[in-house]
Amino acid sequence: MPLTSFQQPTEPEGFLKKELFITKEAIRERVVALASRISADYQGKEPVMVGVLNGVVIFFADLVREISIPVKMDFIRAASYGSRMDSCGSVTFTKDVELSIEGQDLILVEDIVDTGLTLARILEKLGERAPRSIRTCALIDKQERRSVSISIDYCGFTVEEGFIVGYGLDCREAYRQLPDIYILR
Ligand code: IMP
Repeated sequence: MPLTSFQQPTEPEGFLKKELFITKEAIRERVVALASRISADYQGKEPVMVGVLNGVVIFFADLVREISIPVKMDFIRAASYGSRMDSCGSVTFTKDVELSIEGQDLILVEDIVDTGLTLARILEKLGERAPRSIRTCALIDKQERRSVSISIDYCGFTVEEGFIVGYGLDCREAYRQLPDIYILR
């Protein structure tokens, strides 16, 4: 049975409605473009791609399969949101990377960068382990509430504001499996 014919989750926020925001075709086009830039930039190297769990899984899986150079993969899990829609401002790590990253070229892969605190803390933590280089990749750069200056080297989409779900992104753990991206209004 195709994924799109699964029964979709009910609206967990009650009064919030989801509106189609970025189609799966548009996502696919950006993922292929990002993968092609990464493949060109890292020719002759084997970067370690570190995905930030959980929201990144679908983007990460699609991205790495379009990359034409060898890559290593690992994951880190950082939580700044819990089950709410507002950042609590502090970042806790519940899973660390397991590969040795000393002397390696790292590409940190995030689903969405909002305040930037999560990515800043991960950059700080992994930077202490002396990688040769670190770059960042995010499917969505959401600029409305940015509170730390972060450079996103490979960015899928820039969004001004709003709460976005689907393609790995959740609201209270719902909506992650939707193939398109929606905005909750
Ligand atoms: P930051 O630390 O504020 O940049 O938050 C990053 C994390 O917040 C992301 O990895 C997501 O888990 C979550 N997040 C921020 N904005 C959204 C959104 O619009 N939809 C779903 N999750 C979001």
